Amino acid sequence: MTTQPSQPIRIVLDTDPGIDDALAILLAVASPELDLAAVTVTGGNCPLAQGVRNALAVLDMVRSDVPVVPGVALPLIRPPFTAEETHGDTGLGNAHLPEPSIQASQDHAVDLIVREIMTAETPVTLVAVAPLTNVALAIRREPRIVERVREVIVMGGALDVPGNTTPLAEFNVYVDPHAAYMVLHSGLPITLIPWDITSKVLFTQEYVDQLLRIDSPVSRFIADATSFYIDFHLNYFGYAGCSINDPCALALAFRPELAEYETVFVDVEIESAKSMGKTIADTLNVWKQSPNVRLVRTFDQTAFLALFMERMRDLAGRHANS
Ligand code: RIB
Ligand code: CA
Repeated sequence: MTTQPSQPIRIVLDTDPGIDDALAILLAVASPELDLAAVTVTGGNCPLAQGVRNALAVLDMVRSDVPVVPGVALPLIRPPFTAEETHGDTGLGNAHLPEPSIQASQDHAVDLIVREIMTAETPVTLVAVAPLTNVALAIRREPRIVERVREVIVMGGALDVPGNTTPLAEFNVYVDPHAAYMVLHSGLPITLIPWDITSKVLFTQEYVDQLLRIDSPVSRFIADATSFYIDFHLNYFGYAGCSINDPCALALAFRPELAEYETVFVDVEIESAKSMGKTIADTLNVWKQSPNVRLVRTFDQTAFLALFMERMRDLAGRHANS
C-alpha cells in the first residue's frame, strides 16, 4: 500500500446504481482528494440501461462532467439478478431525477478501465461496488492491469455473517460469482470490504433530517432515495437505518486509515447451487494458499459518517436553491 499522495488520487468507480452507488458517486464528486476519471456501469441492482441513466442523472444534478461509461449488462454465466425490492423500480428508491441532459460515453467500461489503468500518468485506484463482471473482463482484456493498478477496492462478500441475498451470499458476489472468482484469483491488489462491515454503517433518518435543513436538490435527492432504502432495511433486516455500503468502499480510496486489515486468502463458491457466491476467508491458512486480499476487519463508522455528512453538507450547499 503506497503512502497517501499529495495530489488527488485518480479513481475509476465501477457501479450498479443503485441507491448506495449513487451516494458513492456523490461522495467521490464531493471529495477533493479524488480525481474521478469515470463512472463505469454494469447490470446489478437494476438493469444496465437504468443504471446508466441513474448515474447520468446523479452527475447531472451536481453539474459534473465526469463520463458515464456503460459496461457489460449480464453476468458471465449466471442469469441476470436485480434488486428492485431494495432499490426500487428505478434503482433510486423514491427519488425522481429529471431526464439527464448529458449523454453516456460511446466507450465501453472494460476498455475504459484498461485504458485508464494502463495509460494514466499517476497510478489509478479502481473502486468496484457492483457485480465484478466489468473488472473480470478487464483482466482478460489486458492482464497487465494486475501489475499497474494502484489498488482495487471491492465492496462484496459476506464472510462471518449471513448473506444479504441468500443465507450465505452477498449481492455483488452472488450476482456474478464467476467474475468474483476471476478477480479473487487474478493477483490484483485487492482491498475487500465485506457486508460484515458495511451492513453496520447505518445512515439514519436523523442524518437525512440534518441534510434537509439545506434547501438543495442534493439534500432532497438523498432524502427521497434513502427513504425507500431505510424502509427496506427496517422491514428486511430490522435495521434503524440503511447500510451505505458503497460510500464506505469509496472512502477507503482516500482514508485507508478508517479501517484495520487482515491479509488473507479469500475464495468464492461457484459449484454448489445452495452456497453459490459464498465467500470464505481461510484465516487458519488450512488451504495453504497465498493471501489474495487485504480484508477489512474493523471500520471506524463514526469517523466515516462524520466525513460523509461533512461532504454531503458541502455538496448540498454548493447546489443550494438551484
Ligand atoms: O450487497 C451490497 C452491494 O450490492 C452494494 O454495492 C449494493 O449497491 C449492491 O450492489
Ligand atoms: Ca452497488
